[in-house]
Amino acid sequence: MGITVLVLVSICALAAESFAGFDAIQRRVYAPPGGFYVVNIHPHNVSSFTEGLLFDRGMLLESTGLDGQSYIREIDARTGLSTGKEFKFPPDIFGEGITVLGNTIYALTYQAKKGFAINRDSFKLLRSFDFETNTGEGWGMTTDQTHLIVSDGSSTIYFFDQKSMAKVREITVTNNGQPVININELEYVRDELFANVWLTTNILRIDPISGNVKEVLKMERLQYLESNVENIRESWRKVDAVMNGIAFNPENNHLYVTGKLWDAVFELQVALASDTPHVRTFDG
Ligand SMILES: *[C@@H]1O[C@H](CO)[C@@H](O)[C@H](O)[C@H]1NC(C)=O
Repeated sequence: MGITVLVLVSICALAAESFAGFDAIQRRVYAPPGGFYVVNIHPHNVSSFTEGLLFDRGMLLESTGLDGQSYIREIDARTGLSTGKEFKFPPDIFGEGITVLGNTIYALTYQAKKGFAINRDSFKLLRSFDFETNTGEGWGMTTDQTHLIVSDGSSTIYFFDQKSMAKVREITVTNNGQPVININELEYVRDELFANVWLTTNILRIDPISGNVKEVLKMERLQYLESNVENIRESWRKVDAVMNGIAFNPENNHLYVTGKLWDAVFELQVALASDTPHVRTFDG
């Protein structure tokens, strides 16, 4: 009798132990009321100073910044490895956000007031173009399949004509009536704009018509599941190694998020709290 009880207790203890780690991770990353779960953690190149991230044709496309280190690469999300398709920005150019419209990759640059149109298949440069923002800078980019949608580090988001780069309209991002500055990487997800905010671990869900913030997804816990940043020695790099990069995978409805110089891309199931039932029901 005594022995049976002992065996039972140790089996229970074992079971509890083997699930404890998983539960702990789920608890750490679950952030009610909106909430999200880490579904998977994928490798990320620790040299990538991520400025743009998106899914296209089942592949991740990533753009990076810093002079001389800026490129656009096609990456297998599961391995974090480049497929070999790559565009290198000119050495004096700091790359920024990217998006794909039709068979063209559009790429912003930071302070050169210049963008690049690149063939999606060959990664060959088609043309460069000029663009204008209030700050004179290019930060994040996405598309609603009609316009190129651009952030410039302020609270303004521009909708540009894809051919002429003429401004069609603009919105100001506001949360409870207050402008939110430092809007960075953008991702258009089913009629909403998702945005990183520079130097924060918040992702905003923004109404693309009014600019109102519908929800703030607080993701501060993700950085503790990432281990590269604590190894960075130079202080400026450490400070700049912030969360940036949002990609929506339409094949599984998951968000993939990362940061500059992070060693991980987090695949998230986002349980959205508010008024988008088609996003809230996850079947993937
Ligand atoms: C990571 O990025 C660096 C810098 O661009 C590059 O030299 C290296 O080949 C990349 N590694 C992989 C595995 O893609």
